[in-house]
Amino acid sequence: MSQNFIITGTDTDIGKTVFAAMLVQALGANYWKPLQSGIEGGVDTKTVQDLTGLSDERFLPEKHIFTESLSPHRAAEIDGVQVDVDSMEVPDSERPLIIEGAGGLMVPVTRENLQVNLFKKWEVPVILCACTGLGTLNHTLLSLEALWSRKIKIHGIAFIGEENDDNIRTIADFSKEKVLGRLPRLETLNADSLKTAFEDNFKLEDF
Ligand SMILES: Nc1ncnc2c1ncn2[C@@H]1O[C@H](COP(=O)(O)OP(=O)(O)OP(=O)(O)O)[C@@H](O)[C@H]1O
Ligand SMILES: [Mg+2]
Repeated sequence: MSQNFIITGTDTDIGKTVFAAMLVQALGANYWKPLQSGIEGGVDTKTVQDLTGLSDERFLPEKHIFTESLSPHRAAEIDGVQVDVDSMEVPDSERPLIIEGAGGLMVPVTRENLQVNLFKKWEVPVILCACTGLGTLNHTLLSLEALWSRKIKIHGIAFIGEENDDNIRTIADFSKEKVLGRLPRLETLNADSLKTAFEDNFKLEDF
């Protein structure tokens, strides 16, 4: 049964937006990027719309769009914007909602609050995107620790990148968390390739 998911990652640039686009399409979901840092090169909402070709109503407006491509707390300061964490709630959505976080879990949203606190408050299960390559064991297990210590519900881990069975197996063994699948690096990114990638590498019933 489809529900809302938070898409987070072990790092910025890990492939959250591409994974989110695949999931929005596969689950017939809506997309929401609450905190967008950086407008040069386009915003994630536009990327997901371009990748999926879905209509405007499938995209909920960002809560904040900051000019600079920096951690939200700093980007907000530079724009002179006050982020009110207490008033940030998940918007109503007629479809399941795919929520893409900014960067990784421990990114500060303000000088007082980390993004992970927002995820805890929202009580939406988290999907952790992780790369398959060198460094992922440390980054993924550290990210999971941050979620476990706050008792945040983890839906599973989605790997992104080339085949690396031992890294995936090692993370699964140490964490005991569900591995949802591996999205390979796609030569062409579009609605068709994302549809095929989901069908080949993930199971609809896992979501
Ligand atoms: N499966 C994939 N196949 C091919 N290219 C990919 C794939 N996943 C991500 N990329 C590319 O890698 C780059 C980073 O991906 P993406 O924008 O999805 O990362 P992100 O985690 O959303 O970053 P941010 O923290 O800025 O939101 C982009 O250029 C994207 O096109
Ligand atoms: Mg992104």
